[in-house]
Amino acid sequence: LDNGLAETPPMGWNDWNAFGCSVDQQLVEQTADTLVSTGMRDAGYQYVNIDDCWALPDRDVNGNLVADPQKFPDGIAKLADYVHARGLKLGIYEDSGTRTCSKSGGFPGSLGHEQQDARLFADWHVDYLKYDDCNVPADGQNVDATIARYKAMRDALTGHGIVFSICEKTDFGVPNSAWPTVGNLWRTTGDIHDNYARMVSLFHTNVTLPDLAGPDHWNDPDMLEVGNGGMSDVEYRSHFALWAEMAAPLIVGTDVRTMSAATKEILTNREIIAVDQDPLGAQGRPVSSANGLWVLTKPLVDGSRAVTLFNETDAPATITTTAGQVGLGKAFDYEVRDLFAHTTSESAGRITAALPAHASAMYRISPSRRLAQPHVVVGLSAVDT
Ligand code: DGJ
Repeated sequence: LDNGLAETPPMGWNDWNAFGCSVDQQLVEQTADTLVSTGMRDAGYQYVNIDDCWALPDRDVNGNLVADPQKFPDGIAKLADYVHARGLKLGIYEDSGTRTCSKSGGFPGSLGHEQQDARLFADWHVDYLKYDDCNVPADGQNVDATIARYKAMRDALTGHGIVFSICEKTDFGVPNSAWPTVGNLWRTTGDIHDNYARMVSLFHTNVTLPDLAGPDHWNDPDMLEVGNGGMSDVEYRSHFALWAEMAAPLIVGTDVRTMSAATKEILTNREIIAVDQDPLGAQGRPVSSANGLWVLTKPLVDGSRAVTLFNETDAPATITTTAGQVGLGKAFDYEVRDLFAHTTSESAGRITAALPAHASAMYRISPSRRLAQPHVVVGLSAVDT
């Protein structure tokens, strides 16, 4: 969606993966404070997003949505002020059907209220809307009607400076290719779960869609589970590397107030974040994946490549690639930056990593600058004369 609001993949936090329906003002405020105090804001995490279950079960007499006063005693507009005062932005959640998804019967959906709800969110100074697809009338459960429902909210949001996050999950068969002009990001899969097999299956789907991604329109393989306890730190490192390699939105889904040092280190790895946020906006693509040994390459704006080697298998393995295979031109020497170890080495073109089961290595590779240094050129011209 060409609105200039998501030139790089959105980064932030959302309560759903760690808290489900238990969202409230205190959690949002404390999370905002923690994003600042841990340096996560300065590493790029910008949005603090409220998911389902924030509203009262019914609209008011004027048909307006109402934030549950027990959960949000000061209301959403005040909360937006709180978040903005800390240099962050506020996101909210709604649904394109008659009720939201939550099992407890749901909260009012926006169907038929798109203009009114978009105006309310704008009045509250909300910056981001995640828009779900539950409880859709029977006659609306087809491709055209689904696209029309999302376009109705897109049009209602126009001019309000609100990022539009489509949460359609392919439930009604809409091809992902329908979304780049409708939303800033769209879910390409069902929900993530905090386990390795599920994370890998979402990767398998999302990795096939690189042609759709670019500035202001991103494939969304769902929010991060890093830190939630169902995967090892090795697996969480792969999760984070793969999402960054795919230029996915990086929406943290853990309790940042209590996260471990290892979780914080993964989530604030600035060299990996820079890959995700590279202004070229290319989604990485696989150049090989035989037997679950993946080599992915992502072109970066400076001409280098971000390369992820991912051992999907349950046994240790060595993965090898070459500068040519990952799309770099011929050079005598390449600079290889290890984005987990934060070390630099030189290579004549072969890149290899011995990886434990489920582990990844991530590199930024460029033709070596050393060879372009003046003394080399001077040496050559001295021979010539
Ligand atoms: C389904 C979405 O995929 C989840 O991320 C979450 O928003 C829930 N709905 C909320 O009900």
